[in-house]
Amino acid sequence: MAFDMRDDIKEVYFTEQQLAEKVAELGARITEDYRDRNPLIVSVLKGSYVFMADLTRRIQTPCNIDFMVVSSYGKGTKTSGEVQIIKDIEQPIDGRDLLIVEDILDSGVTLNYLMQVLMARGANSIRLCTLLSKPARHKVHVPIDYLGFEIPDEFVVGYGLDYAEKYRNLPYIGILKPSVYGGE
Ligand code: XMP
Ligand code: MG
Repeated sequence: MAFDMRDDIKEVYFTEQQLAEKVAELGARITEDYRDRNPLIVSVLKGSYVFMADLTRRIQTPCNIDFMVVSSYGKGTKTSGEVQIIKDIEQPIDGRDLLIVEDILDSGVTLNYLMQVLMARGANSIRLCTLLSKPARHKVHVPIDYLGFEIPDEFVVGYGLDYAEKYRNLPYIGILKPSVYGGE
């Protein structure tokens, strides 16, 4: 029988419908808040690519779109707070109103560093929109301006989020069966 990703999911956390409703709600708030400000909306790849595509299509005020790729050093071992920018924003951010779009706020270390770097470059304002947040894991305080859902400390996949680069294309968010990690 052909491999089906859905067989690896233990529990669906957020259905397509729940995600769509939340994204529409966030898009409406962002539209209101950024009217006539031509925000620069920046997605931190790769995990946020699905959220970014859906969210920006729910934003009804003119905006610019850009992408960043960053990698944190010492992930899982020690958090130095050092973040390497692998792919940078391609337009000047001086005086711009930035909206950073993330998939999930975990320790917050990456975002904290990133927001400081971008502020130092002369952005007029920086706000954060994250689909998910795991409060139990936060190590540094990063203010979230637009939040989708808070989740417990469980590893989630789908809607852009991966496990070993798989499951990003799952249309909903769920948690994996332990057998996928080599458990029972
Ligand atoms: P920080 O710096 O906040 O980094 O610790 C957050 C990044 O950690 C990854 N992450 C996850 N990815 N499912 C995932 O697919 C999860 O449950 C999860 N928790 C953390 C993710 O890359 C995020 O951007
Ligand atoms: Mg990510």
